[in-house]
Amino acid sequence: MSTATIRHFLVDTDLTQAEQTEVLDLAAAMKADRYGYHPYAGPQTVAVFFDKTSTRTRVSFAAGVAELGGQPLIINPGESQLGHKESIADSARVLGRMVSTIVWRTYAQAGLEEMATHSRVPVINSLSDEYHPCQLLADLLTVREHKGKLAGLSMAYLGDAANNMANSYLLAGVTAGMHVRIAGPAGHLPDEAVVAAARDRGAETGGTVTITSDPSEALSGVDVVATDTWVSMGQEDEKAERVKLFGRYRVDEAAMALAAPEAIVLHCLPAYREYEIAAEVIDGDQSVVWDEAENRLHAQKALMAWLMASSGLAAAPSLEEGARR
Ligand code: CP
Repeated sequence: MSTATIRHFLVDTDLTQAEQTEVLDLAAAMKADRYGYHPYAGPQTVAVFFDKTSTRTRVSFAAGVAELGGQPLIINPGESQLGHKESIADSARVLGRMVSTIVWRTYAQAGLEEMATHSRVPVINSLSDEYHPCQLLADLLTVREHKGKLAGLSMAYLGDAANNMANSYLLAGVTAGMHVRIAGPAGHLPDEAVVAAARDRGAETGGTVTITSDPSEALSGVDVVATDTWVSMGQEDEKAERVKLFGRYRVDEAAMALAAPEAIVLHCLPAYREYEIAAEVIDGDQSVVWDEAENRLHAQKALMAWLMASSGLAAAPSLEEGARR
């Protein structure tokens, strides 16, 4: 039996800069040879739990596990005992004897940490209230494809800067050595603990952090512009108030005029045109959102293969053509 420590991916900083690069390199190789890697041959099963709705995450994990030679088991809200009729710890103990990886979209980050503590297989955060690290792997892969590098680039996120996407842009961006600028209204900025963690990681990678309520400061000459919905899951009753609050942070043509001329635009989707992003921007030449959505598949396949290998549960995947399992 392997004595390797089981690796999980619960927050963006669970990967060092070098490890993040390994996953992105593997994602690029897997994108070039989509059906050539089979770390879940058997087929082994990956349990994918959803406590919230999803299109991209659900489909990309289902397709990705199948393409890796495995079998995805999708468990929708209300279909299991997890967290309500059975403790997370007991669920983790049982699942680890049946499946090779656990993927979970849930509310509290603490639940994922509890799952990982008691799991003998990798646990992946496929969105929590605090972080969306799988999305950021896809975003970074997309930026690298379009810009040829990550370290040294500037990236601005505008809008609800206290949400899971803002936190993950901050942590994943500085891990990649990027200069991350987060802009949102006072009271809707990242938690101090997240900012401190980002600054600590930036001290190792050369990445920097700017937190501001001035959208112009965030946008000035920036290489990458990102935004997200102003009304996240569970905030629907506050829509009118939030639209008024975040209006200054809309990514429209006036905002893009402040960015670098060759800047690209990211949005994790689903998007609400004329709220957080103008139709002419998301549907325009600078938008790379469809590449970004596709890259969920490739980035998550690479992440799963990397976690399995790093945990001693599968052979290390090769980047060499013709040497793949
Ligand atoms: N971006 C994203 O996570 O999309 P879904 O909510 O559709 O999975």
